[in-house]
Amino acid sequence: MASPFEHRPVLLAKVLELLDARPDSVIVDGTVGGGGHSAAILDQSAPNGRLIGLDRDEAALEAASQRLAPYGDRARLVHTSFRSLPAVLKELEIPRVDGVLLDLGVSSHQLDEVRRGFRFGGRDAKDAASVPLDMRMDPKAQTTAADLLARLSEAGLERCFRDYGELPGARRLARAIVDSRKTHPLETAADLLELIRETGVGRRRRHNPATLVFQALRIAVNDELAALEEGLAVAIEALRPQRRIVVLAYHSLEDRIVKNVFRDGARGCVCPPKTPVCICGRLPTVRVLTRRPLTPSEDEIAENPRARSARLRAAERLPEAA
Ligand SMILES: C[S@@+](CC[C@H](N)C(=O)[O-])C[C@H]1O[C@@H](n2cnc3c(N)ncnc32)[C@H](O)[C@@H]1O
Repeated sequence: MASPFEHRPVLLAKVLELLDARPDSVIVDGTVGGGGHSAAILDQSAPNGRLIGLDRDEAALEAASQRLAPYGDRARLVHTSFRSLPAVLKELEIPRVDGVLLDLGVSSHQLDEVRRGFRFGGRDAKDAASVPLDMRMDPKAQTTAADLLARLSEAGLERCFRDYGELPGARRLARAIVDSRKTHPLETAADLLELIRETGVGRRRRHNPATLVFQALRIAVNDELAALEEGLAVAIEALRPQRRIVVLAYHSLEDRIVKNVFRDGARGCVCPPKTPVCICGRLPTVRVLTRRPLTPSEDEIAENPRARSARLRAAERLPEAA
């Protein structure tokens, strides 16, 4: 029987080519998930390359620790967000690393486990009635999607749907939620789907409005975009010169952040465009290796439909300026 953590690593060959993990290297997998990419990185860096695997989800780490058990103490797993990488490296007394992978988003396991609330049901409303509005990547975190829907102000809900879901009609949905929760708390995916349907937001758009609403809530519950910006900065900082960071993003908001952080790192100077001479003194820290994001082949998508929206970007740390 397939393990419940059967998550096929996306764009694996490209990830390995870019990370180029050598036998003496220390690679960070900031989103270890079920350990698919990690196992391949450990194979690539055999016999003694090391891997530090991080995840916010203890269930993922449990699965990864079983999967990576054959590699013994070459793999070290830590339950934390990748934004806390500096503290992890300090604790392990590792000043710099030889590569970082961030494979963002949720794992197949998180999607498949109904009680985690990441997928808003199957084909009919009956399925959605059993899906709680949770969506915490770390089930020990305090705030669920239901908490946000119960507590955020109308303006806060509108901002969430607009900024994190790019939802047309964000204001209308926010108002409907605030009205409706006075009498009926939103507890399941079915409650929210019904409200989305009633308000008719985004009905004529290409993207299913429910997908946009659930994406927005997931991003807010897990503070995903702020974690990504911070995680990219600390990961670049932790890299040895000429070593690489590889990021797999699954929606345009994430991908835009990766593109902008890499572009700003490659430019260095942050002076306003019309400043005649640079006064900020900032030097480039990275070279961008992917002018355009790399995407999976049709064959990979056919084999693994969850790879469909993946976009890979990579950058190489520049040698420190003297
Ligand atoms: C797409 S899965 C990774 C799958 C993995 N590459 C594999 O091959 O099995 C993403 C994982 O990242 C974790 N995650 C998301 N944001 C995180 C963060 N800020 N810090 C640490 N882990 C995070 C999720 O809990 C999830 O397990």
